[in-house]
Order: sequence, then structure tokens, then C-alpha cells
Amino acid sequence: MDLFEYQARDMFEAHGVPVLAGQTATTPEEAKAAAEQIGAKSGGVTVVKAQVKTGGRGKAGGVKVAKSADEAEQHARAILGMDIKGHTVGTVMIAQGAKIAEEYYFSILLDRANRSYLAMCSKEGGMEIEQLAVERPEALARIEVDPNVGIDEAKAKEIVEAAKFDAETGAKIVPVLQKLWEVYRDEDATLVEVNPLVKTEDGDIVALDGKVTLDANASFRHPDHEALEDKAAADPLEAKAKALDLNYVKLDGNVGIIGNGAGLVMSTLDVVAYAGEDFTGGKAKPANFLDIGGGASAEVMANGLDVILNDEQVKSVFVNVFGGITACDAVANGIVGALKKLGDAATKPLVVRLDGNNVEEGRKILADFNHPLVTVVDTMDGAARKAAELAAAN
Ligand SMILES: Nc1ncnc2c1ncn2[C@@H]1O[C@H](COP(=O)(O)OP(=O)(O)OP(=O)(O)O)[C@@H](O)[C@H]1O
Ligand SMILES: [Mg+2]
Repeated sequence: MDLFEYQARDMFEAHGVPVLAGQTATTPEEAKAAAEQIGAKSGGVTVVKAQVKTGGRGKAGGVKVAKSADEAEQHARAILGMDIKGHTVGTVMIAQGAKIAEEYYFSILLDRANRSYLAMCSKEGGMEIEQLAVERPEALARIEVDPNVGIDEAKAKEIVEAAKFDAETGAKIVPVLQKLWEVYRDEDATLVEVNPLVKTEDGDIVALDGKVTLDANASFRHPDHEALEDKAAADPLEAKAKALDLNYVKLDGNVGIIGNGAGLVMSTLDVVAYAGEDFTGGKAKPANFLDIGGGASAEVMANGLDVILNDEQVKSVFVNVFGGITACDAVANGIVGALKKLGDAATKPLVVRLDGNNVEEGRKILADFNHPLVTVVDTMDGAARKAAELAAAN
């Protein structure tokens, strides 16, 4: 989960990372009121910053300095509603204005390839770090961080030395890097990035912009992280599936997919996409990924069908199950139970392919049920074709 800048700012503050005052606003009037308060600490100067989860806000006109509260209101009026790389700005942060002497870059991230963490640091921070990394990689220090040790004082010194800071500035940055490491470790982040980390004219080190990505796999350790979720941005079907504990990802097509096991579902997506190319100019495509897992009970099947059938784009559904510990007859009973439970709510054709443990019993249960919406096809390719054909025809 990616955080908004203001959430990262609050998290930094809670861990003792030096930040400046900041307050969010969703209307120009709120922005003005916030700027009156916050500007009092910095000679009336504030910065109005678009809160969107994408980079390059400054270049897109989403970060503007205001010399008065009235000016902050005007900037907020211009920035709210602005589109930045497909993200509509609904919130701005009014930040205390900093007198910047120098801008630096620092990040800690998960380095999957090396099964380790990586710290990156540069004296040349600001807006163009991606360009710097490509054009002058020597200006960006990369230091491996042992997950068991983290960034202690010695590691922080190694980082600032590698980035070639002078001794005085380096000494001021060291404790800030240690605090940022605490954020990374204690919040179970996979990314903590500060761009820019600045030195002010008074010589203080301050994190002026923060990007934090939290590891969703660790959310059980952080009940407080749920409050950071951007509920408004979540797809309603994905939210519903999440509440039902289903592994569901919405896609753009019209063939709903249910399978058991992530590998089988992935290959089902491929087979449907391939079969779909033959119908109505390739318009039959997978509508979602849904793995109902090993124990496909009637209830799980009903929940899965319920989510998929509520997707207006879905024109047909392909249930592709390989019976293992949960045998095909249990799965077939699950489908029958689900269709009974859904009753008239089930309106789209279902193509079912069963194979594996107790396949004959499973197919017999569906044949006896004889539901007008259900077609049983024995092979995966044949079933994918049928599902694509039905989606294209509907
Ligand atoms: N509180 C502040 N006071 C003074 N200047 C600021 C402040 N916040 C940002 N700036 C200036 O604006 C520039 C861009 O701000 P920021 O880093 O927050 O956005 P960005 O880099 O464009 O966005 P992103 O990091 O999403 O790409 C900074 O490099 C800094 O020069
Ligand atoms: Mg930035």
C-alpha cells in the first residue's frame, strides 16, 4: 500500500524524523485557514502540495509556493481537481515553507534480487532523481543494508561518506537516516523515500517530501495501518471480495474466471485470452482473476460467483477447477449450492470444467442438476472457447 505524502509526513513525525508542519485541505477555504495557521511559523510562506499517489507533482504544477494565505487559497483552487497523470487531486497539503539551502536524496527499499535492503543517497536531490540515476549513476550512492542490522550509526556514516557529504553536513544527516530506518523497520515498509531531504539556511536537516510503501503481508502486525487505506479509490468489487477473503483482481474483459489455485487461474486467463481472439475481433477477454483456493465450499463458490456476477462487464463465467484434496464432487455441490443460493440473481451463462479427483461424480452432479445456465465442458481449451463464444454472443 502506497501512502499519500501527508500520511508519510505524519508517520515520519511519529518516529522522530524532522519534518515541517503540514495540514490537509479539500477546499480552497480550508486551505486558506490552514495557511493562516501554518504560515505564522514561516513568515506567511507556505507550499500548497497536491496529494496524489504518483511522482512528478512539482513538474505538473501540483506544488506551489504561496507568500500569503490568500495566495495559498488561489493555488489550492487551481490545484484541487487538477489531473496529474490520471490522478484527480482531491486533497492538498499546506506545508510550512522552508528556506532551502541544499536538496538531497535518500531512500531505503527492498532489494528482492539480492534478498536484502538497499539504501540510496545523493547530494543532488530534488525532482530529477530518475534522470540522475541513468545519466550520472556515480552521483547516487548505493549501499546494501543487512536486514538483521539495519541502519545503525556506523551504517549511516558509511552511507553519507559514500554520497560524499562534507563532514559537518554528514554528521547532521546520520541521525536522520537512523530515524528513517526506524520507520522502515517498525512500520514494515518496502520503500521509504525522501526527495528532497533538505538542509535549510539555518543548517537543519528536514524531510520535505516523503514516499512510503507498506508491506500488506505484514498488515496483521499493524492494525493501525487499515486507517491509512484510501477507501474511496478502491474498486467496489475488489473491496467486496476483500471483505469476503477472496483473492480477486478486477480486469477489463468480459469473461469472468473462477479457479482453484493461483497457477491454474493464471493459465486460465491465458487460455481464455487466446480463445477470445477468435470471437468478434478479439473482444472476449478475461474479466478478473479469482482464486477460490483449495477448500472450495459452496459458500466460497457462492461468494465468488456473487462478486463476479455483479461485475456489469461480465457476459459469461468460466469455472475451472482441478479437484485435489477438495474433490470434484464437493466442488460440483459447491456450484449447485451457489446457484441455489443466488437464485434469480444468477443470470449469466456458466461454463464449468472439472478434472481430477472424483471427476465422474462431479460431472454427474452437474448433469443431474441440469441448470439452464450451466454448460459442462470436459477440456480446458474447449471450455475456454465456449466461455469466450458465450461472452462474445451476449
Ligand atoms: N515545504 C516546502 N518548502 C519549500 N519548498 C518546498 C517545500 N516542499 C517542496 N518544496 C520544493 O518543491 C519541490 C518539489 O516538491 P516535492 O518533492 O514535494 O514534489 P515532487 O518531487 O514534484 O513530487 P514527487 O516527489 O511526487 O515527484 C522540492 O524539490 C522543493 O524544492
Ligand atoms: Mg519529491
